[in-house]
Amino acid sequence: MQEAFDAWSKGFERVETTLHRRPRSTLLPPGRVRQMTTLPTVGQTGCIQDRHSIDHHDRGATIALLSPGGMHAIDRVLELFDRVHDHLQVKESNHPNYIKIPYLSTIMLVSLKKVLEKARRENYAVGSFNINNLEFLQAIMEAAEAEKSPVIISTSEGAIEYAGMAELGLLTHLAAERSKHPVVFHLDHGKNYDLVVEAIKSGLYTSVMYDGSSLPYKENVRTTKKIVTMAHKQGISVEAELGAIAGIEDFVSVEEKNAHLTDPEQAEDFVRQTGCDALAIAIGTSHGAYKFTEDSALDFKRLEAIKQHVKIPLVLHGASGIPENIKKICTKYGCRISKAKGVSDAHIKRAVKLGVNKVNIDSDLRIAFDAGVRRFLHDNPEVIDPRKILGPAKELMTRVVRHKMRLFGSAKKG
Ligand code: G3H
Ligand code: 13P
Ligand code: ZN
Repeated sequence: MQEAFDAWSKGFERVETTLHRRPRSTLLPPGRVRQMTTLPTVGQTGCIQDRHSIDHHDRGATIALLSPGGMHAIDRVLELFDRVHDHLQVKESNHPNYIKIPYLSTIMLVSLKKVLEKARRENYAVGSFNINNLEFLQAIMEAAEAEKSPVIISTSEGAIEYAGMAELGLLTHLAAERSKHPVVFHLDHGKNYDLVVEAIKSGLYTSVMYDGSSLPYKENVRTTKKIVTMAHKQGISVEAELGAIAGIEDFVSVEEKNAHLTDPEQAEDFVRQTGCDALAIAIGTSHGAYKFTEDSALDFKRLEAIKQHVKIPLVLHGASGIPENIKKICTKYGCRISKAKGVSDAHIKRAVKLGVNKVNIDSDLRIAFDAGVRRFLHDNPEVIDPRKILGPAKELMTRVVRHKMRLFGSAKKG
């Protein structure tokens, strides 16, 4: 491995490596030549030998190279890395041939900023789906492939506690390596400052959410700003949150509602001060399966006003629809969620039309999983093979995610 690295590096006037924290596991065997469509995974060094192949070396380092081939070679590198160009920093000042690659990622593992900027320009939303295990990830990736859609894979603090940051991260990296469409690996609702820092330093995430929404305004601004500075140095995007994500029915008076939902002018000030890349807003949605007792209701006027004040992509949390057909299966086979109610598809569509570019879904995957497992076990009480038990649940989740991708308008945008 060392030999291969040395032989390669001779071709350059100078090769610098900077240590980069990363998980210890090796995803790709050193020296394996791969097609241009796949790039080395985060934290691995790599070199482009020619237009069509990449040799990589498990050095656990980021790399800066000075190419003897001059701008021609640099152009070629840039061309090859075009899909991940926000991970590249080209130093134009001192030396025209200097390229710094903060870290290399699989070609489809991209930042939230990049995916959402396109969504903002073209007025659609990208779904953010929570995973806790392999089956959820497989179901989501299958949907993204079938719908040719970009996708955001999210891990909450609870998911990390359950399955592990490195475990979920490496599974997602592998999935992204095989994907034909952009994948964002995102930390959802990072409330614990140390965990957010750990996620940034892990080299796994291309985006983190720092959720300081329950803090006093000034403290939310101060901490979000700190996270943004840290994350941006690594080419990682930051989503922040302002306002309390709670259902409209949770407020007894207009005053109370105004005090909790996102204030458009404050949102403008928050984005200007923090420099965050996306903003989660509170307009009447809430987390979980019980959002409304009657029909869904969102504060669209507030959304329009926020959109006028905030130019970065907006995020809608608590956006599950609790589809009737899935709920019917769950309840038929014993799950007690008959009163659960989510946001209607029509309301999601309207929110996207008015400028929401990221829509967060977790509960809909949970009930699809539940429905699949319950029905299968009821119909096949003799089966004990977990692969057979979980298969139908995965299929149901894929159906749900495919529907979301079409609803959000991200299908065929990958
Ligand atoms: O927004 C919250 C997500 O639904 C994650 O839920 O904290 O139970 O993993 P969790
Ligand atoms: P749901 O509970 O509506 O799926 O919301 C998920 C979410 O906002 C994750 O951040
Ligand atoms: Zn959320």
